[in-house]
Amino acid sequence: MAKDPKPEQDAALRAALGHLLNLTGFLTLSIAALLAYVVLFTQPKPWMSAWWARITATETENPTPDGPPTETPNPAIWTAPSVDGESDAAKRKQLRYGKDLIAHTSKYFGPAGTIEKNRTNGLNCQNCHLDAGTTYFGNNYAAVAATYPKFRARSGGIENVYKRVNDCIERSLNGRALDTASEEMQAMVAYIQYVGRGVPKGKAPEGSGIKKLPLLNRPADPNRGKIVYEAQCQSCHQADGRGLIAQGAAEFTYPPLWGALSYNDGAGLYRLSNFAGYVKYNMPQGARHDAPILTDEEAWDVAAYVNSQPRPKKDIRADWPDISSKPFDHPFGPFADGFSAKQHKFGPFGPIKAKLAALNAQK
Ligand code: HEC
Ligand code: HEC
Repeated sequence: MAKDPKPEQDAALRAALGHLLNLTGFLTLSIAALLAYVVLFTQPKPWMSAWWARITATETENPTPDGPPTETPNPAIWTAPSVDGESDAAKRKQLRYGKDLIAHTSKYFGPAGTIEKNRTNGLNCQNCHLDAGTTYFGNNYAAVAATYPKFRARSGGIENVYKRVNDCIERSLNGRALDTASEEMQAMVAYIQYVGRGVPKGKAPEGSGIKKLPLLNRPADPNRGKIVYEAQCQSCHQADGRGLIAQGAAEFTYPPLWGALSYNDGAGLYRLSNFAGYVKYNMPQGARHDAPILTDEEAWDVAAYVNSQPRPKKDIRADWPDISSKPFDHPFGPFADGFSAKQHKFGPFGPIKAKLAALNAQK
């Protein structure tokens, strides 16, 4: 007579269940302990703050009454939203126009511009704001929507995005400001705002603008920079620095770094720290923030060389109305810190920075 297997099975099942419960309890405890350890004893990691920012960000940020709620990009790893994702057709058209104006500015306003010839020097915004201002540490527009209008010491007043764009038109593009109400200005600003939408107000996501380089403790050297230029830059930007434009083309293949068609001496890139930071992480073409090609020294020296070449001048007497707010590498006096114009141009910048910090601490 076969024995009924049931009770044995039951017992085995109970035993297995008991083991499982023990295991679950153990796992729960371990996870709780691990979490407590992480929360109490470790520095918050970027992903944690990003995650926290994401779950605490509410719909009050950038409400979009006429569309789906804006996603909140993780500020630590910002990537630009695509304009193709805009659902409103008219708005999408405007954004695409704005993007095209930024990518191919010269086509519209340069020496052969279709809207107006010679309103700008032939550079595209994108030559300095890579991929229409979306590249990580490629002088992108990530922070603009979230940080403007803001006080800017250069003008001594509150600047909105229109004013900031016109600053680049008058300096980097050595051109004439656009009317704020013009279709072109409206489109560019709409695009810039769209790119930075969802970035929490007042925040500059990591990777925005230009990455700062450590300062050298010697002056940047144009003679050494010339050697860097010849080895690493001139194949594209040419020996005379004037870039390369194909016959009849509306925009440069390789934009000019100096000469009549380059940025003027009131432009952001004329400051050595901006130039060196931009170039270190983006040039020669193909360099990236996580795969630079030049050393820090080479970047500073080539900045000194390029910014010692002839270029258009801008009347900047009205800039920096409070002279103690001039950046350490603004090379035009008068200076509040007593250092020479030459040291303000080439460095060493450490002592100037320290003096400025001390002066401003007394305010
Ligand atoms: C020759 C290079 C160059 C060109 C061309 C250029 N810019 Fe700029 N732009 C800069 C630099 C440098 C800065 C300042 C970066 C800094 O200070 O961190 C800047 C800053 C800006 C900012 C503010 C960014 C911020 O986060 O505060 C905006 C907006 C801007 N540019 C728009 C434009 C537009 C639009 C165009 C074309 C009409 C243009 N720029 C053309 C070099 C350029
Ligand atoms: C392989 C070609 C190439 C080389 C080499 C190269 N560049 Fe460029 N550079 C470019 C191109 C193309 C752009 C415009 C980028 C764009 O529009 O996407 C540019 C843009 C620039 C700009 C901003 C626009 C302007 O005209 O001011 C600067 C500054 C610059 N390069 C500096 C340098 C320096 C310094 C070196 C050498 C260390 C260098 N480049 C090497 C191709 C090159």
